[in-house]
Amino acid sequence: MRSLLDAARECLDATGIDAKIALTQRHAAAFLRGESAVPADAPPADPIGMPGRPSRPALVHPRHLPRRGFGSSEGRAAFVHSIAHIEFNAVDLAWDAVYRFRGMPGEYYADWVRIADDEARHFTLLRGRLQALGHDYGDFDAHNGLWEMCEKTAHDGLDRMALVPRVLEARGLDVTPGMISRLRALGDDDTAGILEVILREEVAHVAAGSRWFRWHCERRGIDPVTKFRALLAEYARAVLHGPFNIEARAAAGFSDDELAALMDAAAAA
Ligand SMILES: [Fe+2]
Ligand SMILES: [Fe+2]
Repeated sequence: MRSLLDAARECLDATGIDAKIALTQRHAAAFLRGESAVPADAPPADPIGMPGRPSRPALVHPRHLPRRGFGSSEGRAAFVHSIAHIEFNAVDLAWDAVYRFRGMPGEYYADWVRIADDEARHFTLLRGRLQALGHDYGDFDAHNGLWEMCEKTAHDGLDRMALVPRVLEARGLDVTPGMISRLRALGDDDTAGILEVILREEVAHVAAGSRWFRWHCERRGIDPVTKFRALLAEYARAVLHGPFNIEARAAAGFSDDELAALMDAAAAA
């Protein structure tokens, strides 16, 4: 039996675009066939650092990313690139959720391996679209905000579940429907179709975040709403923006009180 933790580490460490995606698909398939598992005697995780990544895209401060409209073909390609970058990062975020947090139930690891596999597919769809637009992943600058939140929450699986899937990934649920409408209006049905697949599948990713956030809260006797409010205030002031997609977030496991907490935190930001 292979160690799932070694598999996760190998995917995190991979620097090439094709290598990270191919390893992710191979290791996820092997896990789903029952060929790898988390060893009972696993040593503690290595401290978190930057995952392996290609030399391009260059990572810059979000302030230095040019704002482009959808209208020009260059603007459209830059937009597809920005979403592809999120998906490429999401592969690492999912593998880090597998690798970093030890002693979780088997379903936890199964959730995050399946999510890593989904993210690799999302990235591949978007990269194909980017190539059809005459570009490739790496052609535009990008930012490192997703991984930074991963680092800030590396010390605690509860904080990670609250802030990475339930704040950062969930942001996609809020903004994607509007993007799909704008792309359809421009006649870009190819990109819109890909975003529809992603939106549908991301609900399940955020729901996994909700499930495991609650699991941690229950085990520690913590009230999830009070804790979620406190974590939003501590970590998420700069990244919370309404309006929120109430329907998708409810489907992804947000209670009414948590939705209220989000709206209060966004209003206070
Ligand atoms: Fe995704
Ligand atoms: Fe996701």
